[in-house]
Amino acid sequence: NFCMASKTAERLQNIRLHFEKHHVLQADSLELYQRWIDALQSSIARALTHPASPPESPPPTQECPSFSTASQDKARDVEKRRQKKQRFPRWRFSRQSSKATPAPPRHASSFPSSLLPPARSRQNPHRLTGPSVLSSLTRPSARNQKRYECQRLSLTPASASACPLLDRLPETKRVQLRSEIKKKYDITAKTLSILEVGDIVRVQHQTTKKWDLIAKIMEIKPRKRSYLLKTLAFSSGVAAITAVIHLLNCGDHWIVHDDLYPGVIKELRDMALKMGIETTFVDARYCDRVRAAMQPNTRLVWIEPITNPLLNLVDVEAVARVVQEKKGCVFAVDNTFLTGYFLRPLEFGATLVIYSATKYLNGHNDVTLGYVALNDDAMYEALWNIQQGAGSVPSPFECYLLLRSLKTLPIRMEKHMTNGLAVARYLQAEPHVEKVIHPGLDDYSSSALLRHQCSGYSGMVAFYLRGCAEDAHRFVTSLRVVSNADSLGGCESTAKIPACLGTSYTPEEAALRGITPNLVRMSVGLEDPKDIIADLDQALKSTFTEM
Ligand SMILES: Cc1ncc(COP(=O)(O)O)c(C=O)c1O
Repeated sequence: NFCMASKTAERLQNIRLHFEKHHVLQADSLELYQRWIDALQSSIARALTHPASPPESPPPTQECPSFSTASQDKARDVEKRRQKKQRFPRWRFSRQSSKATPAPPRHASSFPSSLLPPARSRQNPHRLTGPSVLSSLTRPSARNQKRYECQRLSLTPASASACPLLDRLPETKRVQLRSEIKKKYDITAKTLSILEVGDIVRVQHQTTKKWDLIAKIMEIKPRKRSYLLKTLAFSSGVAAITAVIHLLNCGDHWIVHDDLYPGVIKELRDMALKMGIETTFVDARYCDRVRAAMQPNTRLVWIEPITNPLLNLVDVEAVARVVQEKKGCVFAVDNTFLTGYFLRPLEFGATLVIYSATKYLNGHNDVTLGYVALNDDAMYEALWNIQQGAGSVPSPFECYLLLRSLKTLPIRMEKHMTNGLAVARYLQAEPHVEKVIHPGLDDYSSSALLRHQCSGYSGMVAFYLRGCAEDAHRFVTSLRVVSNADSLGGCESTAKIPACLGTSYTPEEAALRGITPNLVRMSVGLEDPKDIIADLDQALKSTFTEM
């Protein structure tokens, strides 16, 4: 009871401050009110220090300020209207308080109902509680922020500069960003004033209950110009890819790098066929082939800068130059493997960047999300419409998880890189391994391009075992620390035989491209590299000693 009484006293004090601030009560009423609170608090204190003595009864009700007079009723109505005008919905007084005789209080018989904590509105129970679990996870919003919740990730200047996703912007860009967000999302100036460089803003539109990840302040182009980036989250990487494909119309043509994630190739092939879109697959490592494949109706060129599973590197800048020669052609880059931490395709001339955030961006194997980043307003609107129309909106909780995971992206990516390199070096020295493909090794085919284009590489390693399909299968199933799983980019290491993944290539086509049954693709996680290497060692031994 004491606990409840002291909480009530605290609430009363807050309400009194509110009344004082908004001039709801006359000065003498405020004084009475304060005396009444003081009396309550001192009786609580006395009761706590002398538990045996009965707590003092509350002061007589006539001393409590009441709203029963006509003039006070009027003043309160005026105040209510003013609050409504100011869009101040979170703190509402219960309807009971407007009645001439206050209703019996809930906690103590002498409490006027107007002094009780605000009740939930029956018409809209969300008024006080917020629309979803997420609102309780977000930072408390500004008082007059009616329709939106906004989350800020505070990054230190050092971490902001270390993370290319959340880079610093000059003051002019900051101002531009603020006005842009304000224009689009009608966030009040007060909220905008809390935005800083490196913030991620999450906006919830309460009327539609849909979430967007918007306006990451990022991607400075040091040599040329800065980018103001728009981002749109999708329910999966494939949903993001599908949305981009739907930017095309029947009769359009597009060029696709022929060494893409096999699932995507299949997706693209089937969808393009149905939509009446003509597709040309080319090896985008050779720009002249991309140029030669261009047609008058070419609208999209699609590449992965580092391919899955063979880790071939594409010169993004060179392809961008070819695409820019063709007016109205979009250059899409699936940057899932490198993330914005190691490669910023927009800096090299890409029109839009696609991520499967399921992989490294989130990095914990607990989310399925896709993500498109671009700096073109019209295309952003078009993608937004596709996202809404196709229902490929992400779940709020997964957005929350992604926002949380992004905070550790630089640390994770660095660790993936060093672990991956340690594993690649170990495999290179193994006699049962025929060949290792890893961007950090000396024999990597595109080292110069890698140094020019990327600031690092992820934890992907591909290697050919000296053996047949059966050996490869025995190897991946003997792993204990590393899981035999399709997904990649998470904290846990995974290994997979790409030839066993669903693909639209025939086995002969796949073998021609180097995807043979003895090829293993590994996503090196964040475990201690000694554990990963010990596991690989025991798997290799058990595979090849059983032979
Ligand atoms: C490069 C790449 N893009 C897109 C995807 C599809 O992403 P999601 O699994 O989130 O649908 C994958 C999946 O492995 C991928 O590797």
